Amino acid sequence: MGEPFLIGDGMTGGYGAADILHGCTIAVEKGEIAVIVGPNGAGKSTAMKAVFGMLNLRGGAVRLNGEDITRLSPQARVRKGMGFVPQTSNIFTTMTVEENLEMGAFIREDEIADTMAQVYDLFPILKQKRHQAAGELSGGQRQQVAVGRALMTQPQVLMLDEPTAGVSPIVMDELFDRIIEVARTGISILMVEQNARQALEIADKGYVLVQGANRFTGTGAELLANPDVRRSFLGG
Ligand SMILES: Nc1ncnc2c1ncn2[C@@H]1O[C@H](COP(=O)(O)OP(=O)(O)OP(=O)(O)O)[C@@H](O)[C@H]1O
Ligand SMILES: [Mg+2]
Repeated sequence: MGEPFLIGDGMTGGYGAADILHGCTIAVEKGEIAVIVGPNGAGKSTAMKAVFGMLNLRGGAVRLNGEDITRLSPQARVRKGMGFVPQTSNIFTTMTVEENLEMGAFIREDEIADTMAQVYDLFPILKQKRHQAAGELSGGQRQQVAVGRALMTQPQVLMLDEPTAGVSPIVMDELFDRIIEVARTGISILMVEQNARQALEIADKGYVLVQGANRFTGTGAELLANPDVRRSFLGG
């Protein structure tokens, strides 16, 4: 097998003197869904930030489509086709839904109307509420705004840090269905999930991170079937 479409390869680094990531490797293939799970504080968000260029790496590299992008800024990575929805503060609450989507398209100089229509097709409720302040929306609807905003740059890779945080099981299922739909268009999905079991069920590839290092790696099905993973990370 060749190189994955996106790979954070042997990433080591942190926010200051102490490293949080210790040779951590995360990858996703074209049009596939890769899921990162692990306990609170394991370094899942840190690994996402590292892949997106928000962390100085002391070791390792990030490559997109074979190109070393380790030294690129987050904005330069967006231009290369990466989109990122962070775990917190991922929408502008005082702006309308539509303004959020427009802001998402900040790097584009071409016509964005078609992409906005695609986002509204994916998330019809957002079209209905397009003139409402995003801060007035429900948790699940806000997450749709955040995902929609990231889609406005027409990314090849969409990175989502806990897209279903704080939403009900029904809304979670709904969001996962939309994420699968996005992946089927050829966009790679790299996401962190607290709902480990459900996320691994839709994952082509899964990573269990513990203390900034890879503990288990496999297909979603392999991890779901692994007794050690089940006992320690999936509640039996
Ligand atoms: N901005 C920061 N500055 C310094 N340390 C940080 C910062 N962000 C996170 N950390 C530390 O890095 C470690 C990993 O945090 P991280 O947010 O990556 O974990 P996580 O796996 O995403 O956890 P959670 O499931 O709670 O979101 C923690 O010990 C945390 O305290
Ligand atoms: Mg996190």
